[in-house]
Amino acid sequence: MIKVAPSILSADFANLQRDVQMAENAGADALHIDVMDGQFVPNLSFGMSTVADLRPVTSLMLDCHLMIMDPERFVGQFAKAGADLIGVHVESTRHIYHALQLIKDAGVKAEVVVNPGTPLSMISELLPLVDQVLIMTVNPGFGGQHFLDQMVAKIAALNELKQQHGYQFDIEVDGGINDQTVKACYDAGATVAVAGSYVYDSADPAQRIQDLKVATN
Ligand code: DX5
Ligand code: ZN
Repeated sequence: MIKVAPSILSADFANLQRDVQMAENAGADALHIDVMDGQFVPNLSFGMSTVADLRPVTSLMLDCHLMIMDPERFVGQFAKAGADLIGVHVESTRHIYHALQLIKDAGVKAEVVVNPGTPLSMISELLPLVDQVLIMTVNPGFGGQHFLDQMVAKIAALNELKQQHGYQFDIEVDGGINDQTVKACYDAGATVAVAGSYVYDSADPAQRIQDLKVATN
């Protein structure tokens, strides 16, 4: 069964505590927090103060997906705000290895993220270092986009590297996840699924979280 990380990007920001606690009560495994700077991606969202405000109202693991340029500038502040895991894009910094080391040094789990157009060869040297790899299954920046089917083969290729080398990292997928697409990802080796619009743009978000788990049971 896959772990589910609802993305608060599609939640109601005026009722964020309610929407987060709903996810926790519905059996979510983590909370996915999409941070955007209007530079790395063509959209803005929120920053570390949102993480700090959420920390005391949930015991869910806070999975912070940084879609910002030179993320190493802010790693310390996100760790201090209460992040449990920080994800940085390989495309967002000249010094990805260093950025991941900074995350580990801050006592937080480290994740490397790859855009759809970025080959796995860009992250091969990083695999021994990370706790999680995030394969983007849409172009980052917006919720509610269509899942890119071509990414299923990429997930499978990453899983093969993982098995070959005995790596322990989780494989997360993000973008266009629903009860259909989650199954293909899970079968290819994904262990964590992010879901934004599928969960929060629904009349019954708690049921949608369960549906993702049932689809991979
Ligand atoms: C997109 C974000 C996603 C987004 C997913 O840049 O990284 O986490 O919230 O939204 P859905 O699940 O609607 O594709
Ligand atoms: Zn995300």
